[in-house]
Amino acid sequence: MSTTDQPIHLTPEEMATQAAAVLHANDLGGWTKAAPRLYPHQWSWDSAFIAIGLAHLDTRRAAQELRVLFAAQWATGMVPHIVFNPAASGYFPDPARWGITTAPTAPAGVETSGMCQPPVHAIAAHAIWETAQQRGGAEAAAATAFLREIYPRLLAWHRYLATDRDPEQSGLVTIYHPWESGADNSPAWDDALAAITVGDLPPYERQDLKHADPSMRPTMAEYDRYLWIVEIMRRGRYDEATTYRTNPFLVKAVWFSAIFVAANDALLEIAAIIDAPDADRALITEWRDRGLHGLDEQWDPALNLCLDYDLRSASPVRVQVMGGFAPLIAGHLTPERRAAILTTLDSPAWLGHPRLRWPVPPSTSPDDPAFDSRRYWRGPTWPVMNWLFWWALQRADATEQATALRQASLDQLSGGGFGEYYEPFTGEPLGSLDQSWTAAMALDWLYALLSK
Ligand code: SER
Repeated sequence: MSTTDQPIHLTPEEMATQAAAVLHANDLGGWTKAAPRLYPHQWSWDSAFIAIGLAHLDTRRAAQELRVLFAAQWATGMVPHIVFNPAASGYFPDPARWGITTAPTAPAGVETSGMCQPPVHAIAAHAIWETAQQRGGAEAAAATAFLREIYPRLLAWHRYLATDRDPEQSGLVTIYHPWESGADNSPAWDDALAAITVGDLPPYERQDLKHADPSMRPTMAEYDRYLWIVEIMRRGRYDEATTYRTNPFLVKAVWFSAIFVAANDALLEIAAIIDAPDADRALITEWRDRGLHGLDEQWDPALNLCLDYDLRSASPVRVQVMGGFAPLIAGHLTPERRAAILTTLDSPAWLGHPRLRWPVPPSTSPDDPAFDSRRYWRGPTWPVMNWLFWWALQRADATEQATALRQASLDQLSGGGFGEYYEPFTGEPLGSLDQSWTAAMALDWLYALLSK
């Protein structure tokens, strides 16, 4: 960050150099911490996005990012949302609080959390391979070998999500905790959290507030509930059936489910590259199609958004949050749904809002009563989510919108700093600076632009 009041406007070359330096500084040898101080461990979906950006610097190192993460995969197939760095302290909940050693399905010799995050990994593995193909030679061959190596693990991960996490066979993934959604304190979880009575919660001290302003982070009431769900899952020894029976939070999450649909498409591409058995491809196609159907069922024609579904209260979650754009991320849109979702995206409730500093999607619509411009997932814009929208817009052949979003996102980052998230009206970076996935997404955009 500048020490003067002068705004910085990095050139694309300067931004690419700085983004590479952020990834280098956060590199702990084979894996990348999500942020210098606030997140000193390896996070699951962060790693997938990081690998996409890292591939432009070194495709083998990018593959290693996923290899390290998947070495912590559970016997169920679950990829844990945090793999802990034994050398780092200052993050809570720590391995002792998760207590996964009581779980028969937990991996040996590595400390992890006991829950997961959206499955961006097949998309990342395929992106690494694509980047390596452009380089050719030994790098291309190594990337194909990597796909062969990671494919069984990706398949086990997807199988887990399609079975343990969807016993109803609805096509929608059930999340056990707001942290699994990725959008921790989104208003989408407010009612489900409010219905939880916190029991005899062992005392705890938050570490996140030592590294970030409390007005930018979830509240204490939310944290008590976050920790209480962890407590229930730990007491159930992270057994899936037990969690499904006893967990106070069970939500069919459409954003997570949409990423799963897109990841199944990526896994199908990988299966074709490595010539996987036809039976695998039929199964992955079934998961993908079931997901598309499940998302279709959650479409709300009044809000023109897709809604999460709370299994405990048996009701859809009627809020205007980024997750509502799930069908765009999933792809395979009918012309009608495509038109509807692009209209919503352009509307004054979203990109057309007159107060937005840059036309990039806020995590919660400024029109929603729960909108809070500074607090984590309740309003701020997230560069990594801009990337996902951009990627999905391209897949939907909305080229003009994709290009405009990429430009707005790069303008947002041209002030330097690679913020975790941004105040949507002022453009102030919030949360952590030098956030790895922000730098990785900048690199991915810039390499495409600079190589032209
Ligand atoms: N994103 C959550 C945190 O801030 C949990 O992974 O710690």
